[in-house]
Amino acid sequence: MSEPKTITPGLSEIAAGIWRVRLGEPEAITPVSVRQSVPRVAELPAVGRPPFDWEQIEFRTAARGCVVTLPLGRDEGLYGLGLQLKSHLQTGKKKTLRTNSDPIADTGDSHAPVPFYVSTAGYGVLVDTCRYASFYLGTHSGVDQWEARAQEKQRAIAEGTEDLYKLRAISGRVVVDIPVARGVDIYLFAGPTLGQAVQRYNLFSGGGCLPPLWGLGGWYRCHGKSTAAEVVALAERLRRDQLPFDVLGLEPGWHSHSYPCSFRWSAERFSDPDALIASTRALGYRLNLWEHAFVHPAAPIAAALRPHCGTEMAFDGLVPDLLTPEAQRIFAEHHEQTLIARGVAGFKLDECDHSDFIGYAWSFPEWTQFPSGADGEQMHSLFGIRYQHLMDSAFRRQGRRHYSEVRASHALAAGLPYVLYSDLYDFRDFLRGLVNCGFSGLLWCPEVRHAVSADDLVRRMQAVVLSPQALVNAWYIQNPPWEDAAATDLIRQALQLRMRLLPYLYTAFARYWQTGRPPFRALVMDYPADHAVREIDDQYLIGDALLAALVAPGQSERTVYLPCGGWYDFHTGQRHEGGQRLTVPAPLAHIPLFVREGTVLPLATPVQHVNAATVFQITPTVFGQGEATGMLFEDDGETFAYETGECAWIQLRWTRTAAPEITRSKELPFRRYEFRQWR
Ligand code: GAL
Repeated sequence: MSEPKTITPGLSEIAAGIWRVRLGEPEAITPVSVRQSVPRVAELPAVGRPPFDWEQIEFRTAARGCVVTLPLGRDEGLYGLGLQLKSHLQTGKKKTLRTNSDPIADTGDSHAPVPFYVSTAGYGVLVDTCRYASFYLGTHSGVDQWEARAQEKQRAIAEGTEDLYKLRAISGRVVVDIPVARGVDIYLFAGPTLGQAVQRYNLFSGGGCLPPLWGLGGWYRCHGKSTAAEVVALAERLRRDQLPFDVLGLEPGWHSHSYPCSFRWSAERFSDPDALIASTRALGYRLNLWEHAFVHPAAPIAAALRPHCGTEMAFDGLVPDLLTPEAQRIFAEHHEQTLIARGVAGFKLDECDHSDFIGYAWSFPEWTQFPSGADGEQMHSLFGIRYQHLMDSAFRRQGRRHYSEVRASHALAAGLPYVLYSDLYDFRDFLRGLVNCGFSGLLWCPEVRHAVSADDLVRRMQAVVLSPQALVNAWYIQNPPWEDAAATDLIRQALQLRMRLLPYLYTAFARYWQTGRPPFRALVMDYPADHAVREIDDQYLIGDALLAALVAPGQSERTVYLPCGGWYDFHTGQRHEGGQRLTVPAPLAHIPLFVREGTVLPLATPVQHVNAATVFQITPTVFGQGEATGMLFEDDGETFAYETGECAWIQLRWTRTAAPEITRSKELPFRRYEFRQWR
């Protein structure tokens, strides 16, 4: 990225349509100042002026830190602030952004609090801080508004508490209260639409990630105490039962010591890890390993890391200062040499968030001091993101893509191939996470664990196959959870839907990489002017053409809002005119899924797993009347060659009058897709 261009003192243009407003004296440690991702902003289209008059931004310092006030129009819908599981539309809310593994209330606590919000007015704002900042999004007015508010808010006498305390009218400002800091940089992202502001932010973050193809297949995490023999038996059984899975995850029991971790194999349960990797690979699986970053004395890296750790422990382990290059290097090299180079395909980076809502305060406290100069508060915000980067760098050096899991993230994460998850388990919150994650450059998985009934299990499975990661996390479940519920056929059906959509999903991720457009996103991102979508937090878009309306456990029908334009029922092909609400029946086997008019959907014949040689049999399926188009992304699916042009975009085009056309942007030495009869 070129040097920021100073427009006037305090305002610089960072890239086309991205401005930085410098207020006071920003702290040395912030998400942008310590970033490791490289912005991909060179090709952004130019935009003339900041999205709103930057001089309207007010700033003051106080003994408690500093306060920034930004303008807010009365009709604006604000979204984002990271993985918010409890609310969708943020206008009229106060959120304190704290990294927390128990986001049990709508306070702002989150596995991934991101100080970035976007507006239906078509802009985004990043507040470059890793403090636990509070965002007051249209909640409060200063005394200068005293008379004006009295006029506006004549209220009737309430007859219930909900009515009494509900927001009457939003104030004309967003106030951000930042503890400790004496100044802060504010980044403004132009749209012109909400969706384009998100894309600009994602490209500033480095562009969206592109997982390896296999990462988008099915995932199964084994019981925490499994032995190698049990893992192989499960692997064989899943194949026998024709349940498509690509990844097997090992939980804490693979370590010789866990809680805290040794990062070496348990001789008792996994005496020959190379043999395990080879035998599961031969069955078509990749192996993913659980860990957290807190170091046990038995870890081979313990002595080397000791000088580069914080003053307090977490889970009785050392907390490496991931802001220092030394700790990052020691940690990454160990993983690269002893695990990644030997075939481990990815990791689950657990517990890098924080909790103080539970009795056992298991993470490091805020008063911890780190050699880099960071305190515990700053480190909580950055720990997850630095952890992701260091492991990602090890895979890059090996020239292999990975797809991994992480339990904490923050700003500028879009390019990192990690999916967030939680120990919470509320279906509705999990679904809202899926809708909200795309505002903030995040991916989220509503993982399946136990279920209280077959209905519960199947509905959860339907959610997970239409999410960034099709994960069954059986870490405390001995046998596959569908065994008890006798729901194997319905589970297989859900996984097969995932495999049918796999090339489509992969292409949606390739667009994320190329343009920053999130593969999973809320309706308001594509339809910001439609007031009817503003509060829809149980429907979402997947890629360019699909709209999912998942059904909650216990329901057998639901209402679905279709935005303007024509939509087709994915299952029956029935056309519906958009701009209206429908009631759709949803028996247990059915997931309401709609296809945008004018789409050629490249549906694949399901495979059991993906490998380098997989050639998908594609049935281009037309949803339209006059003409329709679709896209497929083609590359080797595993390396970084696509970044230097070893990839192709395949356009599928259908018109009522002419023969269907398939055009490739480039010929590659291999073919990933074979086309069958169009439908
Ligand atoms: C939790 C994690 C679970 C599981 C468990 C193993 O922190 O969220 O998914 O991995 O640890 O101890």
